[in-house]
Amino acid sequence: MIEIAQLEKHYQVQGRQISALRNINLDIAQGEVFGIIGRSGAGKSTLLRALNLLERPTSGKVVFEGEDITQFNTQQLQELRQRIGMVFQHFNLLSAKTVAQNIEFPLKLTGKYTAQQRASRVAELLDLVGLQEHAAKYPAQLSGGQKQRVGIARALANYPHLLLCDEATSALDPETTQAILRLLLDINQKLGLTIVLITHEMQVIRSICDRVAVIDGGEIVETGNVVEVFLHPRHAVTQSLVAENQALDLSLLQELSQRGQGSSLSYLLRLTYVGSATHEPILSRIASQTKAEITILQGVIARIKNTPYGQLIVELLGEENEIDAVLKLLGQADIRVDVLNHLLTNSAAHSQTQAQEK
Ligand SMILES: Nc1ncnc2c1ncn2[C@@H]1O[C@H](COP(=O)(O)OP(=O)(O)OP(=O)(O)O)[C@@H](O)[C@H]1O
Ligand SMILES: [Mg+2]
Repeated sequence: MIEIAQLEKHYQVQGRQISALRNINLDIAQGEVFGIIGRSGAGKSTLLRALNLLERPTSGKVVFEGEDITQFNTQQLQELRQRIGMVFQHFNLLSAKTVAQNIEFPLKLTGKYTAQQRASRVAELLDLVGLQEHAAKYPAQLSGGQKQRVGIARALANYPHLLLCDEATSALDPETTQAILRLLLDINQKLGLTIVLITHEMQVIRSICDRVAVIDGGEIVETGNVVEVFLHPRHAVTQSLVAENQALDLSLLQELSQRGQGSSLSYLLRLTYVGSATHEPILSRIASQTKAEITILQGVIARIKNTPYGQLIVELLGEENEIDAVLKLLGQADIRVDVLNHLLTNSAAHSQTQAQEK
């Protein structure tokens, strides 16, 4: 549905050039929820605003529903923006208008509908976002979550094919964030609407996105299915965003880890089970087949959108041949194993392990 090819955006600030976006290539499919995540200043907003040409790229193509929209004239762009709805972090509601009037506003702008048609569309939208009882209120009388529901209804007024969300939940508390994310997912499923959202929170990506692109310093550094990227992040920025979300307490892990003594070795492992394997007692079966000692330091069972997964941080203590046997058994089971020994610094056993690895 959207194809971005070799997109670049440079700004001139006081004679100096700032590259906000470099060599961006992305394909976004019809009906998917696509997330773009990155730190502050990474270029998220610039990229999102290039999708409806609120921001004109310096070079490159943005193909939307088969047409290169970077070639559009002003009138074509106006029509385009009816096909692309946008939701903002700070809602951007008109404070002098009621909820119903805010939602009606984009319908009026097109000049396509009678007052009666507008009223019935507004009623439909109020129903969709659950604000029937608040139609006559003004924005100042609403909570943040309710304001964002108005923002979403307004963005959907003209039956867009694509919804762009710029940090739509960043101004909301965690509970309200989840409610708004559920609403967006509901709309995606009910209407088959494609959603592109940007965020700096992995939690948002994890809750509703199918695929994700990680942006850093104006470049896409990683992209893939959310399950794959979340469980096996490759790029350092992705790894740190995921670690924050998992609240992996490294100093606590170091404290809990016993480290190898004498001839025994210590391995810190992250075991990841996806889907139905989550429910199988694989680890206890393996533990019963070995003399090596397996200690669970941290564990989580959670869900990425619809996929359940489990992740355990374990310490494996034993002789080299025992450790090898366990690693082999884990490899045969449907478990992904990551060795995290590099996280355990300042340990004698650790340097011993490293020496063994060399
Ligand atoms: N109009 C502008 N003029 C000059 N530089 C700009 C302009 N807009 C953005 N930039 C620069 O482009 C880079 C990317 O900005 P952008 O707003 O896209 O980041 P972001 O990822 O959305 O950040 P945040 O999470 O803080 O919103 C930044 O270095 C920013 O300073
Ligand atoms: Mg931004």
